[in-house]
Amino acid sequence: MIVAIDGPAGAGKSTVARRTAAALGLHLLDTGAMYRAVTLEVLQRGLDPASAEDCGRTAASLKLAFDDHGKIQIDGRPGEPEIRGEDVTRHVSAVSAHGSVRDVLVAVQRALAKSWGGLVTEGRDTTTVVFPHADLKLFLIASPLERARRRSSELGRPEDVETIRADIERRDWLDSTRALSPLTRAPDAVLLDTDGKTIEQVVDEILRLARGAQRS
Ligand code: DC
Repeated sequence: MIVAIDGPAGAGKSTVARRTAAALGLHLLDTGAMYRAVTLEVLQRGLDPASAEDCGRTAASLKLAFDDHGKIQIDGRPGEPEIRGEDVTRHVSAVSAHGSVRDVLVAVQRALAKSWGGLVTEGRDTTTVVFPHADLKLFLIASPLERARRRSSELGRPEDVETIRADIERRDWLDSTRALSPLTRAPDAVLLDTDGKTIEQVVDEILRLARGAQRS
């Protein structure tokens, strides 16, 4: 089965997707990590994040895979924690806006789904573009302040909530207004507001929906 989860930065997608995948015994596909990996390589090679050609060529040159814990491997090397760095986060929206990059990564994502036979995936366009026929589609949301609080505690920077909130809002805007595969809710995606809910409550709700989808 394919469970696809989209939503803005910090809505809780990665933790929820990881736990849902473990509970269902499915592979985990973190599509954001793939866009981050391409961004990291573009920056390390001294290329221009605004250049569709540079970014597309970089995406096509990389071998992206995932280890048993769902962590990305770039040409056989671990991509964590570098892909979560500030520089990558600042430029990832620009890199991921290029069709040349998206075409390459979407093809890899579909190929992984085929070889794995089933997965839980999360990102911005997994319910709308990559896997529009997923068995279960979810759209996770939370308020910008709640999302900034979660991100800042994840990063161990509680004093930076305001800066992180501004960055989250900037990325939301860029990711939702870009021409290609913008962040949008598919009409048939279940809307889950995670404000004030624990991770366990959200995962339980998704597992209930997944069991229903498996039966139908
Ligand atoms: O989920 P994340 O914050 O790690 O994603 C990083 C960026 O990658 C996000 O700002 C937009 C882009 N992205 C995308 O364009 N499409 C996806 N399916 C996943 C992420």
